[in-house]
Amino acid sequence: MPGFAERLSGLPAPATIAMAVRARALRAEGRDIISLALGEPDFATPRAVIDAAYQAALDGQTKYPPVDGTPALKAAIARKFARDNALTFAPNEIIVSNGGKQVIFNAFMATINPGDEVLVPAPYWVSYPLIARGFGGVPVEVVCREEDGFRLRADALEAAITPRTKWLVLNFPNNPTGAICDADDLAAIADVLRRHPDVWILSDEIYEHLTFGGLSHASLAAVAPDLRDRVLTLNGVSKAYAMTGWRVGFAGGPAPLIKAMVGVQGNATSGVCSVAQAAAAAALDGPADVIADMRATYERRRDAVVGRLRAIPGLTCAMPDGAFYAYPGVAGLLGRTSGGGKRLLGDEDVALALLEEQGVSTVHGAAFGLSPYLRLSCATDDDTLSRACDRIAAFVAAIA
Ligand SMILES: Cc1ncc(COP(=O)(O)O)c(C=O)c1O
Repeated sequence: MPGFAERLSGLPAPATIAMAVRARALRAEGRDIISLALGEPDFATPRAVIDAAYQAALDGQTKYPPVDGTPALKAAIARKFARDNALTFAPNEIIVSNGGKQVIFNAFMATINPGDEVLVPAPYWVSYPLIARGFGGVPVEVVCREEDGFRLRADALEAAITPRTKWLVLNFPNNPTGAICDADDLAAIADVLRRHPDVWILSDEIYEHLTFGGLSHASLAAVAPDLRDRVLTLNGVSKAYAMTGWRVGFAGGPAPLIKAMVGVQGNATSGVCSVAQAAAAAALDGPADVIADMRATYERRRDAVVGRLRAIPGLTCAMPDGAFYAYPGVAGLLGRTSGGGKRLLGDEDVALALLEEQGVSTVHGAAFGLSPYLRLSCATDDDTLSRACDRIAAFVAAIA
């Protein structure tokens, strides 16, 4: 067989895959599996958004769109950044990509040279280190401890920066912990970054609308406008509008970086599907109560799930301030033996035993760079979440 590229050797398969393969196999055997593993809203895309896509197709918006995004969507994105984040972007400071994921791919491909370090606060969304590695980058984890509310501390950031640091990735509200960095936290982070002018900053704000308890989201580029020429602010419609399948993400940033990213995208996928762009524009310009309703539902589920998990002896669970995950700690289960006879030495053992013995699929904390935890997605209906909590309680009760 002809060979593969050397760059693939640095790319391990995501640790989540083993879990997904096993869950599928158990389902195929007829087992009733509850999946809390996916980070995908269970809502339908709003009807008006689907209508806008249909109308765009009827209107003939079916040709190759511009690589950087349609003027109509870019105008809607500029309005969104001004309205929600007090950020002003000109059209040449905005890119539309196939999901937030391609924004990251474009940005890293456009800037990372082999050996460049990418600071990834842990726990993190799995794709940041994997994409960085694909371009020869070296991910460097900066631990965000539970006792700090899983927030990034400025002193931890300062200690991790080296002359090789090329990027800092910020993701608040965070996947998987739901932690939020408020304006004061971001101001302290900005103070550190001012001392290191050669570091790009990716601020992934894709969960910005999913904040709870009256807390609001703060955007780094608004808190520290003087850093504007090196902050890439990422967002998208996947999570806020239940539009994961439409594949529309976007970013606002300095024109030279955006230009380089458009160059990358032009050689890969070109412009994003034209009707999906029309749908995204309708979502961004649509009524805000769509988001408010979903947020209220996620908050109710969060309260229910965290309450149930905290009542289970041996588990701990920080209260997530945003996003739609719970991240319970399982330290109290380690070193013990599950009801099915499995020794629980780490969080992967716990996740696998929970799947085998009670049919609940989760993702273990090691996959996100911080153990021992499990990530549970609350993006599913109340009844399923309640049944999952019953099963987790039964699993823990059976541990010796
Ligand atoms: C933190 C974070 N950023 C970005 C994304 C990318 O989402 P999409 O590519 O659907 O826009 C995800 C998806 O899970 C995510 O969790």
